[in-house]
Amino acid sequence: MDSIIVTGGRQLNGQIPIAGAKNACLTLMPATLLTDEPLTLTNAPRLSDIRTMSVLLESLGVEVSSLQEGKVQVMSSANLTSHKADYDIVRKMRASILVLGPMLARDHQAVVSLPGGCAIGARPVDLHLKGLEALGAEIELIEGYVHARAPGGLRGAVFEFPFVSVGATENILMAATLARGTTVLKNAAREPEIRDLADCLNAMGARIDGAGTSTITIEGVDALHGATHPVVIDRIELGTYMLAPAITGGEVELLGGRLDLVAAFAEKLDEAGINVAEGENGLKVTRRNGRVNAVNVETAPFPGFPTDLQAQMMALLTTAEGVSVLEERIFENRFMHAPELMRMGAEIEVHGGTATVTGVERLKGAPVMATDLRASVSLILAGLGAEGETVVNRVYHLDRGYERVEEKLSACGAKIERVSENG
Ligand code: UD1
Repeated sequence: MDSIIVTGGRQLNGQIPIAGAKNACLTLMPATLLTDEPLTLTNAPRLSDIRTMSVLLESLGVEVSSLQEGKVQVMSSANLTSHKADYDIVRKMRASILVLGPMLARDHQAVVSLPGGCAIGARPVDLHLKGLEALGAEIELIEGYVHARAPGGLRGAVFEFPFVSVGATENILMAATLARGTTVLKNAAREPEIRDLADCLNAMGARIDGAGTSTITIEGVDALHGATHPVVIDRIELGTYMLAPAITGGEVELLGGRLDLVAAFAEKLDEAGINVAEGENGLKVTRRNGRVNAVNVETAPFPGFPTDLQAQMMALLTTAEGVSVLEERIFENRFMHAPELMRMGAEIEVHGGTATVTGVERLKGAPVMATDLRASVSLILAGLGAEGETVVNRVYHLDRGYERVEEKLSACGAKIERVSENG
C-alpha cells in the first residue's frame, strides 16, 4: 500500500486546476442505462471510484470507452447482458446503488446488492427504495440483494423525502424520467451535482424542472437519447485545495473554481481570516498575516457547509487562535481524523457529533493513518503546515477521490512524495 510523505513548513504559491466532480460523474455514468444511444461525459475526473463504476457498468453489458487518459468517458447501453449488480463490486463503493433507478426505469427489472455500511456511518438506502416504491416498483430484499420489478413500467407520483438525501434524490430523479406521467419530488437535495445530473438528463430528452431547488418536477417521456455533457467541477476538491494556502500561507489560484459552489465554506474561511477572490480563471486564496481565527462550523445539506469538507476544515482549525466547535450533522461517525490529528499535537475533544478544537501554535509531523477519503486529505493538509515530516499511510482512500494530489501540490512548492510499498 502506498504512503504519502509530506514535509511541512513551505508556503504555497501557484495554480491548481480543479477536476470534474467525482460525485457528479458517479451519478452521470449510470444515466447511460436510461438509453440505448451513447452518452459521452467530458471533464471526467481520473479516479479509482470512476474506474469502479466503469467495471460495474461493464458487468451489466455497458460498453465503456475511456478516452484522453480518462477525461472523456463514452458509454453505450445498447446491449445490456445482465440486470444484476453484484456484491463484489457494490461493496467497494456505495454509489453503485445508483444503477438501480435507471435499470428499473428502462427495463422494468433490477437486482442490486445492498451496499452495507461504511466507515463514516450506517448509511442505509431505505429512502432510495421508498421513492422507487412510490413510483410503483415492487421491491423485495432477498439475501442481501434488492430485487426490484415494475411490471408495465414505473408511473409518476408525488414523493416527499422525510429528510434530504443526495443519492436517493438522484436515483429517483433518473427513474422518473421514463415513468408514465408527472413526478414531483419534494424536499429534494439541492446539491450542484443534482443540477448537473438534471442538465445532462434534459440534454438526453428528459423533461425536468426545478433541479437545484427543493421541489423537482419531472414529466415522464417514452425514451431518452444520447448526449454529450461536461461534468461540473468538483466543489470538494476545490474547497480542499482552498485550504492548502489557508494553512501554509501564500497565494494559490484554483483554476475553474466558482464561488457559488462553495459559498458557505468561503464565508467560514473569511471569518477565519482567509481572503477568497473570484476572478476570470477561478478563485484566488490568500492568507492574511498571523494565525487564523477560530470559527464554529455546522455541516448541513447544500447550500450549507458540506460534510465532505469538515475533516479538511478541522485541519485548518487545529492551529487557529482560540476554540472552534465543529458539529457533524449528516453522518454519525465522521471524526476519525481527530485522533490522527491529535497524534500531530492537535487538541481536540469529541463528544458524539461535536468536536471541540483548541488551536495550538503549530502541529508536529507524525506517522498517521488515513481512515476514509476526506480524512486522508485532511492529514495531508495538516502535514503541509506541520513542523517536520508527516507520513500518511493507507492512502488508497485518497486515490478514490483526488487525482494527482502530489503533482498538484508540488507544483505550488509543497514538499510531498508518494512512496509505494514495493519501492
Ligand atoms: C453523497 C455523497 C457523499 C456526501 C453525502 C452528503 C456521492 C457519491 N456521495 O452521499 O460524498 O458525503 O452525499 O453530502 O454523491 N440516508 C438514509 N437513508 C437513505 C439515504 C441516506 O438514512 O436511503 C442518510 C445517510 O445515512 C446520511 C444522510 O441520509 O446520514 C445523508 O446521506 P445522503 O445525502 O444520501 O448521502 P449519499 O448520497 O450517500
